[in-house]
Amino acid sequence: MEKQKIAVLFVCLGNICRSPTAEGIFRRKVKEAGLDAEVLIDSCGTGSWHIGNPPDERALAYAATQGIDLSGLRARKLSAADYSRFDYVIAMDMRNLKTIKARAPKSATARISLLLDFDPHSPTREVPDPYYGGEDGFRRVYTLVNNACDRLLDDIRKRLERGA
Ligand code: 4NP
Repeated sequence: MEKQKIAVLFVCLGNICRSPTAEGIFRRKVKEAGLDAEVLIDSCGTGSWHIGNPPDERALAYAATQGIDLSGLRARKLSAADYSRFDYVIAMDMRNLKTIKARAPKSATARISLLLDFDPHSPTREVPDPYYGGEDGFRRVYTLVNNACDRLLDDIRKRLERGA
């Protein structure tokens, strides 16, 4: 398979709430921008509890209210190969950012960052873990991630225009 031009990996703890939501949102934005042949998108978790599982029911349900179907996604764990396979490795919070950096192999080439740092207007730098909270936590995740993904898409567009 031909290598895609830009590869983006969203990372949270379980890969069942925040990062699948980001994957679904960003997939739609990239498709609407006509860039799906240029951008490869995936998500994973730093933890292994939910490997092979579909997204959390609450994440599935909220995304569905926004017209996004996450039901085909399955959780997987961050691997050493991800650090060179992806151009962007994007963490949902500081805890995961630290874990990603601590596990980085010497061969890592990816740009490792926090998702909300792409959005200068974000009220917070971290996407809060909604797992032990209520439904409103999933709405908040969606809103924060959705806004930051617009900025991420701008960043990638610029990179594609530069031919990087
Ligand atoms: P996520 O949420 O990192 O956004 O997928 C979580 C899912 C599961 C757990 C923690 C956070 N857990 O402890 O099992």
